[in-house]
Formats: sequence, structure tokens, C-alpha cells
Amino acid sequence: MSDSSTAPQQHPAGASPDPDKAWSGRFSEPVSELVKRYTASVPFDRRMAAQDIRGSLAHARMLARQGIIPAADLADIERGLARIGDEIERGEFAWSLDDEDVHLNIEKRLTALVGDAGKRLHTGRSRNDQVATDIRLWLRDAIDQILALLTDFQNRLLDLAEQHAGTPLPGFTHLQVAQPVTFGHHLMAYYEMASRDAERFSDCRRRTNRLPLGAAALAGTSYPIDRRSVADELGFDSVCENSLDAVSDRDFAIEFTAACALTMTHLSRLSEELILWMSPRVGFIDLADRFCTGSSIMPQKKNPDVPELVRGKTGRVNGHLVALLTLMKGQPLAYNKDNQEDKEPLFDTADTLIDTLRIYADMIPGIRVRADNMRAALTQGFATATDLADYLVRKGLPFRDAHEAVALAVRAAESRGCDLPDLGVDGLRDAMQAVAGAGERLADDVAAALTVEGALQARSHIGGTAPDQVRAAIARARGRMG
Ligand code: ARG
Repeated sequence: MSDSSTAPQQHPAGASPDPDKAWSGRFSEPVSELVKRYTASVPFDRRMAAQDIRGSLAHARMLARQGIIPAADLADIERGLARIGDEIERGEFAWSLDDEDVHLNIEKRLTALVGDAGKRLHTGRSRNDQVATDIRLWLRDAIDQILALLTDFQNRLLDLAEQHAGTPLPGFTHLQVAQPVTFGHHLMAYYEMASRDAERFSDCRRRTNRLPLGAAALAGTSYPIDRRSVADELGFDSVCENSLDAVSDRDFAIEFTAACALTMTHLSRLSEELILWMSPRVGFIDLADRFCTGSSIMPQKKNPDVPELVRGKTGRVNGHLVALLTLMKGQPLAYNKDNQEDKEPLFDTADTLIDTLRIYADMIPGIRVRADNMRAALTQGFATATDLADYLVRKGLPFRDAHEAVALAVRAAESRGCDLPDLGVDGLRDAMQAVAGAGERLADDVAAALTVEGALQARSHIGGTAPDQVRAAIARARGRMG
């Protein structure tokens, strides 16, 4: 006697447990609700519905052109898919977990709407090349959106950099005051990072923009298909050259996520600086209230929540990169269901970066620069010490001797609690006595070399912080932005 509560449901030979299933004839028992939920991707891959329909249309048109399906079937498929597109857009489409993923949901509805023509759509195709195509189409759009947002972000950086091409700011190394730079120069560093980020996305787009369709399950198909015409219709630059590779690799998604992780890392660094600059102990900037929140207990607080979240969300995107690399690393050729796990990290990565860039485009103009505090910080930390050494070198002292002479001067200034220029020529000479040939090289013109403006002007070459060079860099950048 069998225990009916645990024994699998047996179906009579030849009968199908669910005639609706695309693959049900082979199976003798249905999956449990838990397995259905576990294996289904429709809750998250339905966001590729528009791409799935586009891909199906291009495939069906090719099938008709090649005489693989009749023209009348194509007309039915086109009509059915147009209707499904409308239903989805209006939120009226009945998504069902029973149909596992976006592809089967749409195909089943198509067959319900147009009958046998719907059943012919999958001729010469597999979900394996179908899903790879959908992801590439989706990602191509995401990349284009990100490229446009990066351009916005860069333009905002250029605007602020232009306003502050000559605004002095302490440049730091090891978070210690190092040398004066201008705030515009500092912002242009982030502009450069964003330029490389954009290059990476453009480069990744080239490799993403190749058509997998035609690879079918893994080996290609026995129908006389025309892959190039499908590629043309879908705007792909070329077709994937190897069918096994086309259905199995997700390196383009990994590359994209890596590019996103780097972009987020750059934005995270900028966020860290905004947070630091906004601290009342530093006070270099103020950030518009709309990016900050208060504290529920400390009434005086204005917390830079948005930059902090950018920093935090960078960890999440980095995690997605590791997830995708790990997903891929153990997979034998060709397609494995593991790949279904590519979508959530990929979508979340794109969503996170897109939102972050949108917010940043608004946040940059929301930065109020407190130039007075930046300048005040430059009077602490001997920011022009290198300039004093360079002055002595220009007057003929070997650099190592100059370095030692200035170290002595810094020590003297420190013990008097003043900055280097405050020592005056005599004070500087006194301090440098131990270094032969240093003091006598000082003349009245040293005062100018020790000013912040003098230090800035002196660094006047491509890539330097002299305000004119910063303006020239901004002009070149504007030229490149077109
Ligand atoms: N939902 C699947 C995915 O995301 C589609 C491909 C399924 N192919 C298969 N042979 N089970 O990867």
C-alpha cells in the first residue's frame, strides 16, 4: 500500500501532468510549489519583456523571409505580440509562476491569442539563445542610459570646476596638508575618472552588442536561418561567432558590472570627500539640505546621508561583481541554469548606478563652496614648504640641501606657532644656518614664492594646478564633450 501523502503522483503512461507546459510530456509528476518558486525567474526577468518581444519579432520576420514559417503566421505573431506588448504596458498581463520565466509567459499568451502561429515562433530557437539576446538588448539600453548620465555628471563637474578654477584648497596626501591646489583642479580629477568610466562603458557596449540568436540550444539549428538580418534588425553590430559561447558566457555582464563597480568606487571616493569637507571640523563645503537629514535625537545635526549611501551602495555593487564572477567560474559549456542567477545582480547593479548618477547630477550644483575656510586651512600645515625648497633650488642650491634647509625652517615656524612666510627673510635665514649656502640665497622675492597664489601659479604645465592650466583643461574637456 502506498502512502498517498508522500508518494509522487503517478500519471498513466503517455498522459501529461500539465499539457500547458512547454516540456511537460517528458515528465511524470509536477514540481512542488517550492521548486516552482525556486526555479522561476519571472518575478525578476519580466522587466526584459520589451526586449523579449523585440527579439521574437525579429526572429519571426527572419523565419518568414527564409520561408521557414508562412507569411500568414508571421502576421498572426506580429498582431499577437503587439497586443501582448500593450497588455504588459497597461499592467494587464497575467504573469504566472507556472510559466517559469518571461519567455514562456509571453509565448504561452501568444499561443492563446493566435493559436498555431504562436507555437511556430520557437522554431529554430531555444530559450538559451533567446535569454542571451534579451539580456544583451537590455544591457545595451542600460549602457546608453549610463553614458548619458555620466555626460550630465561630467558637465556639472565642469560647471563647478570653472567657477572655482582659481579657488585655493589644501591638497592632501596621507590626509595631511601637502601643497595648495585649486578646488577646480580637484574637481577635474573626478572629471577624468568619469571620462575613463565612460570609455569603459563604450568599450563594454561593443562586446555586448553582438547577436546570440541562431545559436539555439547550443549547437546552432538545422533550419536555413539568416542571422545577419536578425542582427541588423535588432541593431547588433555583428553575430556571436560560436554557438556554444553565445549561449553560455556572461562575460559582457561581468564586464559591465566591473565598469559599474569602478564608477561607483569613484563616486564613493568623491562622497567620502563631501562627507569630510562637510564636517564642521573641516567646513570646506555645505551640501544642500535636500541631500541631508537631521537626527531624531540631536537637533544640531545635518547628516550627509546621500553621500554616505553612495559609499555604502558601492559595497553592494562590488558584491554583485563577485557574485557574477563566482556564478561563471565553475560552469562547463554550454548553457546551465546557473545563468538564470545573472539577472538580479545585473539589474540591481544598473539600477544602483543609474540612481546614483541621477542624484549626483543634482548634488554637484547643490555644493556651496566655503572658499574662506579652504584658504584658512592653507595657512596651517606649511603648504608652501615645497615652494621654498624650489625657490632655493632655482637660486642654485642642490635640492637635497634645500629640502633640509626648509625642514629646519618648518621646525622654527612650528615652535613659534606661525606659518613660513611669517618668519620673514631674516627668520628664515636664522633657521637655515646649519645648511651651508642656504640662507644667503634668500632675497625679498621669497615672500611672493611663499604665497598660495605664487605656489599655484608656479605649477603651470599641462595637468598642473595653476588656475590658467585648470581653465585650459576645462576648455579641452568641454571640447571633448562636444
Ligand atoms: N530563465 C532562463 C534564464 O534566465 C531562460 C533560459 C532557460 N533555458 C533552459 N534550458 N532552461 O537563463
